[in-house]
Amino acid sequence: MVEKTPKSDLMPKSTFARRHTRVKINPETYIRFDGTKELLLSNVYSDGQALQIQSDIMLILWDITEWKAIGEITDTWPDPSDHPKIIDHLYNLYSIQVVVVESEMAEGGTTDAKSSTAMEQGGIASNLHKGLHFNTDNHVTMLGDHVRLSSYRRAIERSVGPESVVMDLGCGTGVLGFFAAKAGAKKVYAIEKRQDILALASEIGRRSHVENVDFIFGASSQLEPDRFDPKPNILVAEILGNQILEEHVLEFTMDARDRLLAPNATLIPYKLGIDVFAFESKRVPQRGARVHAYSELYNLDFSPLADIVDAKHMRHTMRYNPQMDAPLSEPTTIKELDLRTLDNPIFSAEYDLTVTQDGHFGGYCAYFNAWLDEDTILTNSPWAPETHWTQLVHMLPKPILVNEGDVIQMDVVYDGILRFQLKGIKRN
Ligand SMILES: C[S@@+](CC[C@H](N)C(=O)[O-])C[C@H]1O[C@@H](n2cnc3c(N)ncnc32)[C@H](O)[C@@H]1O
Repeated sequence: MVEKTPKSDLMPKSTFARRHTRVKINPETYIRFDGTKELLLSNVYSDGQALQIQSDIMLILWDITEWKAIGEITDTWPDPSDHPKIIDHLYNLYSIQVVVVESEMAEGGTTDAKSSTAMEQGGIASNLHKGLHFNTDNHVTMLGDHVRLSSYRRAIERSVGPESVVMDLGCGTGVLGFFAAKAGAKKVYAIEKRQDILALASEIGRRSHVENVDFIFGASSQLEPDRFDPKPNILVAEILGNQILEEHVLEFTMDARDRLLAPNATLIPYKLGIDVFAFESKRVPQRGARVHAYSELYNLDFSPLADIVDAKHMRHTMRYNPQMDAPLSEPTTIKELDLRTLDNPIFSAEYDLTVTQDGHFGGYCAYFNAWLDEDTILTNSPWAPETHWTQLVHMLPKPILVNEGDVIQMDVVYDGILRFQLKGIKRN
């Protein structure tokens, strides 16, 4: 998620408002008015304003995917009384880096002279200068997740020796590959599909005096096996998401294992498990209410859509709080995936959750366990030390009264997207 830039670092509003100031959408960001990005907009606008403003912004942004002077945007707007509002919107979007300003994208930008010189020496200056506006926030958050990093570091240090050739698949800032290099690996391949992030990793490596790291740009699935000589005998990959499999850890690990790694390479992680439990909640989510608001906004009757939405299970990536919504079943492992032997990433499974106490069954929650080695299990279980990952929480459209001993029957499917379904409740 894009964070707000501290106000003090921003161009003053009056300067920003100059008609010739050229703006465009931050190429590293895009606005989609769903889940995460809504959250982002609600950081900027008060709740009540959100809907109308979202619709206004969409119209404004439509036009500014290429450099566009503020004057060009406002002058063509039919109602002149909207002009200050447009500038306000743009400024707010600029403050959270959704919109960028030409002058700051120019070479030299706002970087201080010292770091600029260091970047020149690194030979990746232009990438990093442009990178002043690329989204690095998730990498900062991930570096702050000490549970995650100490687990990976431990597993890496336990596996890596002087004969190790390590592939860091999805290296991000390079941190895991650097751990491997520091643990004595003969060679590390740090692979990253985002060029700006790879340039950053390379610069971090250079400044940290880490050697033997080969930085490779591209998606692992697009790389040819002969790019890797010697072949990696250890794979380290942290491509786990809040929705567990959405970064395609299964597919990319299998592809690397089968095409790019030495036979029987060590995989970190080598096994993944998905656990689910049911919980109590008396809340009735009112998702359809939003659709009714669209009816008002456009003066159309969207109530048939609201009915469908109201009947669906709502899926959130959020922190499950056992204190607020008590568990109604034991966590149950619904799937274990051994990445060393997995031959098909697609799976489906049926499973039962036995109700442990009477209550209102309001939803179910899923989380992962990742075996980094036999003794190092990284998990985002709500009962384990907190990580930067949230859990995957589904809310039922309406709570269902259940009794101890009832069996909640569910199934799960993964076909590129992980989907859970409530099939029924077998009464005790
Ligand atoms: C969750 S981040 C982890 C970054 C870093 N390894 C760490 O632990 O801090 C995943 C990174 O992998 C990259 N990535 C995901 N799948 C990839 C693939 N198949 N090939 C190359 N990079 C990939 C993403 O762009 C992202 O930077």
